[in-house]
Amino acid sequence: MKVLVDQDRCQGHGRCYAIEPDLFEPVDDDGHSGFLPDGLSANDADLLARVAEVSANCPEQAITIDESESAQR
Ligand code: F3S
Repeated sequence: MKVLVDQDRCQGHGRCYAIEPDLFEPVDDDGHSGFLPDGLSANDADLLARVAEVSANCPEQAITIDESESAQR
């Protein structure tokens, strides 16, 4: 399981790191976002819920949660 910030979609609106500054941060001067933790385990239900909330608030729908087998840690 992995959180992805699509840098082509992200326009630097900053809602993600405003809502969850412990999980997301700006990675450049344009405010594009990066996800801080390396990955999520399947047991991180609370963390997953927080990321899902942020994902729902991104106007560009740039934040996705990859739940494929290859993305599991
Ligand atoms: Fe980018 Fe969406 Fe955050 S546009 S800065 S990922 S709220």
